[in-house]
Parts: sequence; structure tokens; C-alpha cells
Amino acid sequence: MTETSAATSAPTSTPLAGKVAVVTGSGQGLGLAYAQELARRGAAVVINDVDQATADAAVASIVDAGGKATAVVAPVGSTETAEALVKGAVDAFGGLDILVNNAGILRDKSLLKMTDEDFDLVIQVHLRGTFTCVREAYRYFKENGVAGRIITIGSPTGQYGNFGQTNYAAAKAGIVGMVRTWALEMKKAGVTVNAVIPVAATAMTKTIPFFEKAVEADEAGEAMPAFFRHDLGFGTADDVAGLITFLASDDAADITGQAIGAGGDRLQLFSHPAPVVTEYKEGGWSYDDLAADFHSLAEGNLQKCGEVMPQLPEDLHPKQG
Ligand SMILES: NC(=O)c1ccc[n+]([C@@H]2O[C@H](COP(=O)([O-])OP(=O)(O)OC[C@H]3O[C@@H](n4cnc5c(N)ncnc54)[C@H](O)[C@@H]3O)[C@@H](O)[C@H]2O)c1
Repeated sequence: MTETSAATSAPTSTPLAGKVAVVTGSGQGLGLAYAQELARRGAAVVINDVDQATADAAVASIVDAGGKATAVVAPVGSTETAEALVKGAVDAFGGLDILVNNAGILRDKSLLKMTDEDFDLVIQVHLRGTFTCVREAYRYFKENGVAGRIITIGSPTGQYGNFGQTNYAAAKAGIVGMVRTWALEMKKAGVTVNAVIPVAATAMTKTIPFFEKAVEADEAGEAMPAFFRHDLGFGTADDVAGLITFLASDDAADITGQAIGAGGDRLQLFSHPAPVVTEYKEGGWSYDDLAADFHSLAEGNLQKCGEVMPQLPEDLHPKQG
């Protein structure tokens, strides 16, 4: 573990002054943007990643900007890492107030090509990693009377399904399911727990051809075309960081159990699954009843799978080949 700190410069407002945050997988990408914004807003931050040099660079970026940060390098998934993260926050900064479960990997393959290892690894990092870290943070919050903030990270894939992402869909839908359960369990302790559904240009999404023109613009230091930022809700990692800091603040003390999307210029509050058709038959529904009635009962209400993407305008199509 490395630790550094420096005098804080004065950002516009610091609602998180005196708070301590852990952000998993914060060496790069969205996690780094979350950690930097939490620090800008006054929190001391524990950076976590699997690579020491990446984690150290993230710490330096915060300290150089006048914030406080330390690094705990360990793979999220196990209880040991979860314990080390809480201990790292307490040892370096005297407590823990905010946990952002962001660490993630992809092992995309269509179902018949997906191996047991592909499945287990993605579940280990995202789903088990979220479970173990939240359990440890909540234990600390309860034992110390902290009205903590927990932010987990879902994905459009978990909300809608996506071709080639069996493992990731299971993990991300599972995370939102756990959030709904934890919101009930944590209410009395005053701890909030929400899922953020981000979309942004990072190492994870940069290679998707659909986003090519947006990524090109971003890498050239230009604004992404409005179609991406507005219609697709696809922007930079920094675009998502404001929502993370808001949910971590006292201003969001009454927001819990929600799934909230952010990307580019777009913000979305997701509904929870709810029945769209409810019908009754005394004695229950037999095969014959369903064969006779199901299609007419469900007509117009069968649900779509997969995110419906708007058509890319001609000039924003990716290059062929
Ligand atoms: N980029 C998007 O559009 C998008 C969309 C939906 C969800 N997400 C989610 O946001 C999170 C961050 O994604 P990103 O796009 O910044 O990806 P990224 O690959 O740029 O960053 C992920 C970081 O997590 C780290 N990491 C991986 N396994 C780890 C482990 N076991 N322990 C600790 N750190 C680990 C990586 O080293 C990396 O630094 C992920 O949970 C991802 O599923 C991203």
C-alpha cells in the first residue's frame, strides 16, 4: 500500500469534505474519473486496482491536483480484498463513508463458445466482488454508526440483455437485484445503496465499431458529435462522475434502491421490473387454459430483449473493414 497527500486546493463546492471513499477498479477509465471527482469534491480516496503502477499513477493524479489518495492493490472478488479495502481506508484516513464498486472485466462470447472459466471469472469480479465489498463496508458502517453510501455499477446489458454477454448480463442484472434487496436491509441503518448504469468511452467500449466516430473525436480532443452524447447517451468517463458524487453526498440521503443511468448528456431513472399483464383464473392456469388464452392475453405486451439503439446517421458510420 502506498500513501500520499497534499494540501487541498479550493474547488467550487466540497460536499464530501471529511468523507472517505473506496473506489474499486479505479486505476483507469470510469473508476479513475469517479475517484478524481470524489477527491475534487473533498473526499479522501482509496484507489484500488490490480496493477501497482496504474494505481500509483491514479493516486498521483489526485495528489497532484491537491487531493488525498492512497492505493490498495488487490483483485476484487475475495473477502480478503474486501477486508483490505476497508482496512486501507481506516488506516490511511480514519474511517469509511463511501464505497463505489466499479471493478470490472469482460469475457464476451456467444453461449456455445463461452467456457466455464469465462463465466466464473466475470461473476467473480463483478457479482462476487460487489457482494464481498458491500458486505464488508456495511459491516463497518453498522459497527461504527456511519450513514454510509454504497454505489454499485450495473450496465445496459444487465437491464436489457446483449448478444455475446451471458456472463456479464448475469453479473450486472444480479448487481441490480442485490441493490433492491440491500436497500431494504440497510434502510434502518441510514445507509443508501444505488446502482449506476454508465455508458462512456473507456478501454472497455472504445473498440466497439458503433462508437468509432465518437471515440475518434474524443481522442482528438474534440467534443463528441451530439448524436452520441444526446441520442445514445454516450460520452466521456467524466460525464458519469457527477452522478457518483451526488449519490455519495448528504443531498442524496433519501435516494436508495434505484438504478440510474448516466452517459454523455443523458440521465435516466430505470423502472424496476413490474407485471404488465395480470389475469386470474380460479383454480390456477392449466396447460389447456394457457394454450387457449396466453397469446391473446399477452398481445401487445410481450417484452423486447436488447437495447433499442437509434440508427447511426450516415456520416457517423464506422469505417468498413
Ligand atoms: N464503459 C462503459 O460504457 C460501461 C458501460 C456499462 C458498465 N460499465 C462498467 O463500469 C465499470 C468500469 O468500466 P470501464 O469502462 O472503466 O472499464 P476499464 O476496463 O477501463 O476499467 C476497469 C478497471 O477495473 C480494473 N479491474 C479489473 N479487474 C479487477 C479486479 N478483480 N480488482 C480490481 N480492479 C480490477 C481494471 O484493471 C481497470 O483498471 C465496470 O464495472 C464496467 O462493467 C462500463
